[in-house]
Amino acid sequence: MSETTPRKILVTSALPYANGPIHLGHMLEYIQTDIWVRFQKARGNLCTYVCADDAHGTAIMLRAEKMGITPEEQIARVKSEHEADFAEFGIGFDNFHSTHSEENRELASEIYLALRDKGHIATRSITQLYDPVKELFLADRYIKGECPKCGSGDQYGDNCEVCGATYTPADLKNPFSTISGATPVEKQSEHYFFKLPDFQDFLKDWTRSGTLQQEVANKLSEWLESGLQEWDISRDAPYFGFEIPDAPNKFFYVWLDAPVGYMASFKNLCARRDDLDFEEYWKAGSDTELYHFIGKDIINFHALFWPSMLSASGYRTPTAVNAHGFVTVNGAKMSKSRGTFIMARTYLNHLSPTYLRYYFAAKLGSSVDDFDFNLEDFVQRVNSDLVNKLINIASRTANFVKKSGGQLSETCSEAAMVSDFIAAGEQIAEYYEKREFSRAMKDIMALADRANEYIQEKAPWAMSKEEGREQDVLDVCSVALNLFRQLMTYLAPVLPDLADKTCDFLNLPDLNWDSRTTILSGHSINKFKPMLARAEMDKVNAILEETKAAQEKEAGTAPAPAAAEKKADKKDNKKAKSKGPALREDGNEVIADTIDFPDFAKVDLRIARIVAASHVEGADKLLQLTLDIGNGETRNVFSGIKSAYQPEDLEGKLTVMVANLAPRKMKFGMSEGMVLAAGPGGSEIFLLEPHEGAQPGMRVM
Ligand code: 2FM
Ligand code: ZN
Repeated sequence: MSETTPRKILVTSALPYANGPIHLGHMLEYIQTDIWVRFQKARGNLCTYVCADDAHGTAIMLRAEKMGITPEEQIARVKSEHEADFAEFGIGFDNFHSTHSEENRELASEIYLALRDKGHIATRSITQLYDPVKELFLADRYIKGECPKCGSGDQYGDNCEVCGATYTPADLKNPFSTISGATPVEKQSEHYFFKLPDFQDFLKDWTRSGTLQQEVANKLSEWLESGLQEWDISRDAPYFGFEIPDAPNKFFYVWLDAPVGYMASFKNLCARRDDLDFEEYWKAGSDTELYHFIGKDIINFHALFWPSMLSASGYRTPTAVNAHGFVTVNGAKMSKSRGTFIMARTYLNHLSPTYLRYYFAAKLGSSVDDFDFNLEDFVQRVNSDLVNKLINIASRTANFVKKSGGQLSETCSEAAMVSDFIAAGEQIAEYYEKREFSRAMKDIMALADRANEYIQEKAPWAMSKEEGREQDVLDVCSVALNLFRQLMTYLAPVLPDLADKTCDFLNLPDLNWDSRTTILSGHSINKFKPMLARAEMDKVNAILEETKAAQEKEAGTAPAPAAAEKKADKKDNKKAKSKGPALREDGNEVIADTIDFPDFAKVDLRIARIVAASHVEGADKLLQLTLDIGNGETRNVFSGIKSAYQPEDLEGKLTVMVANLAPRKMKFGMSEGMVLAAGPGGSEIFLLEPHEGAQPGMRVM
């Protein structure tokens, strides 16, 4: 059973910079966090998930300038783009705020003043490179020049990409500012430092107190042993950020006020939520829980600076910092030129977010190992687990229940099996809690296999042909749908969209973890509607193409005019084709375009058994067919054969279908293939009906 006293939990994901779009590397973290939060909510805990845009810094200031807008306009624009991406991926923030907010200004200033009053701030003058034209100090990434070792040009200020030498920007030969092109000059200015070494002992304890993953704690141990440095927390004007309270024209470095943004976003939420009290969650010694989900590249900010700042200013420290690794695509770093640096929006233009949420969950554990997004594996995995295994359970049993009146059996004929599924929820919950999502998914899919085996063995479609077995059919399908409900309860944190559709279908208010312990009997359900189309490799390829094209555009390498013309030609051709039948040179109509053998070979023709057929409300010509295509896989197809067939004449028949036709969204739902028929039309449409030993799933040659 889940906890009886609800835990009070505050969760954050790292704040994305407000100077660019969200990409799939970001999405791994937001999806990971969102799954964990949804799980906590389903368990009945009071879990709050906040985030914000990280709105300060030189990069944002320069970007706004380049676009000819103010930084405020720039961050507002990006915020709405970020919010739209997150919403479509089902990321359920309780609040998404901005670090450029009054709450954040107040909290960052208050924390800074507390640190200063306790003697943890030092000031001293340092020398930095300065752009005399642009009149700003240059961070290393804004300086390029010739490598001091091998002389290669156009190298950044810290290392040479040609010979691998490392150095400081002052060592570069013929350095230039990448902002104005001017030669940088050395200039002194006073900086403010947070005295991190004061926290050496505190950090040794804190990092070893179960707040960090083992591998992260080990890494930090090395850093702590080798001694900590003071941290430069100020930047000179011009800088888009907060002015330091006692230092005119000096600004907090973006990383000083960024984590404070977690508090600010929560505070902003507290103002409109009676059940949340800022003090209760943030005071020192709070017994609420606080978790930060981050990438492994920003561990030092979250596990060294941040807990030190909090403890020194009288606030609580995080319960845990959960770091994850980087996303690679097909085993390599995400790359713009290969088209694998995929933006969230580009993905959304082609594929359902449900696939990505599931794929991330299916492969994600609690370690900091990198995550490989293998594109072929992705398509195969989501189709096999979600479409073939999971949804199949409902799609091939729902119609039988609907036909017998839409109500599940009064008594469950397999109570022991359903109880097993319910009991499995405890282990699955433990995996979720520990962020071992891949283990949870493995257990859930093993249950889905059991459910499918049960259905296959009972074969309600065959039973339904036998006289007087209506109750048996209903019993089997009621068990199957109870199992489906258990599985969807376990998957709801990962698949919120399918969970909603399941609630509609099974007529349930929600899928919270505890509600699953009551078996559904005598319960009315609604019509089953297709829940998820199959993922297609073509769509994945379209994402890569779009990503590459965007990169080429950005780099000013749009296709040469000749190539562009060819593309336009192709488009016109398509248009011409869609206008009407093509004409041959002699002016006669082409009866049918010929296709090459390789094109023909692409058509996946299969024997299918019609396991269910029904009228489609509001459709004059269509029947809805559920087709068994072997190996436990079923398809939902809308077919224009109503004028020739009654649904009841079709059930049990074998026919031939095109199994790899791209799913088509129709007014009545998703059609996942096409059955083959011949004839002039009207009542003379003849479905192809193979006999003589054909079996569902056989390929037609
Ligand atoms: O690395 C980044 O993208 C930062 N914008 C993360 C900030 S997280 C938090 F500390 F604000
Ligand atoms: Zn070099």
